[in-house]
Amino acid sequence: MFAEVAPRYDFLNRALSGGIDVLWRRKTVAAGLGTENGDLPRVLDVCTGTADLALSFAARGCEVVGADFCLEMLGRGRDKVVQRGAESRLRLVAADTLHLPFADESFDVCSVAFGIRNVADPVAGLAEMARVLRPGGRVLVLEFSRPRTPVLGKLYLWYFRRVLPKLGALLSPRSRSTSAYDYLPTSVMAFPDRDDFLALMQRAGLVEPRYDLFSIGIASLYVGVKPARVTGVEARG
Ligand SMILES: C[S@@+](CC[C@H](N)C(=O)[O-])C[C@H]1O[C@@H](n2cnc3c(N)ncnc32)[C@H](O)[C@@H]1O
Repeated sequence: MFAEVAPRYDFLNRALSGGIDVLWRRKTVAAGLGTENGDLPRVLDVCTGTADLALSFAARGCEVVGADFCLEMLGRGRDKVVQRGAESRLRLVAADTLHLPFADESFDVCSVAFGIRNVADPVAGLAEMARVLRPGGRVLVLEFSRPRTPVLGKLYLWYFRRVLPKLGALLSPRSRSTSAYDYLPTSVMAFPDRDDFLALMQRAGLVEPRYDLFSIGIASLYVGVKPARVTGVEARG
């Protein structure tokens, strides 16, 4: 499905969200910047797609790896990396989020934008993201959620469920058969959000889980921390 939408993915993203996803990504990057010692974090962005979030981290000077298993999406991403002259800071690799080809504790931040919902086993995906983080490192998950504001929420849900799939098909006629933009609202409605998602993060071994709502809760940024290693002394104490 993503291979089929790849050629028009960025255009559709901007058009269907009215560009607000750019702001959400910016806030996600802000939540990832800054380590305890003040250094820029080493970032892994999984389900990176066409690399928008990875590029935003790179634009702030971070060393970034973007990983995705869809070569067509990565190809689009690679063109953007070159266009923006970000090759020295951003590397794209083909990889499954459930089996990341990186050593334990290789990164300070592991992010995912609008991707965890698509991973076949989200808890295993989160656990794998946590594995490659150093203790104290952060998992950042930007994902659609369901608005709770009564009137605006209803209006948004009408747009999301009724209008968006039709607009998506209209603007991307070649991918009509895949129903990619039917899949989007269906998968968001079926996916756990807010406290339910925090519970998934905890099941994956992350601590201090929290979320921030963006744009009346249309999207949420979830943050979880990889617990510090338990040393022998702490374990005895
Ligand atoms: C909706 S796109 C999001 C892309 C990008 N993060 C963004 O914010 O625009 C979801 C991406 O997740 C990728 N994906 C889904 N499951 C994956 C998995 N198990 N491993 C790697 N990539 C995966 C898809 O190939 C697709 O590029």
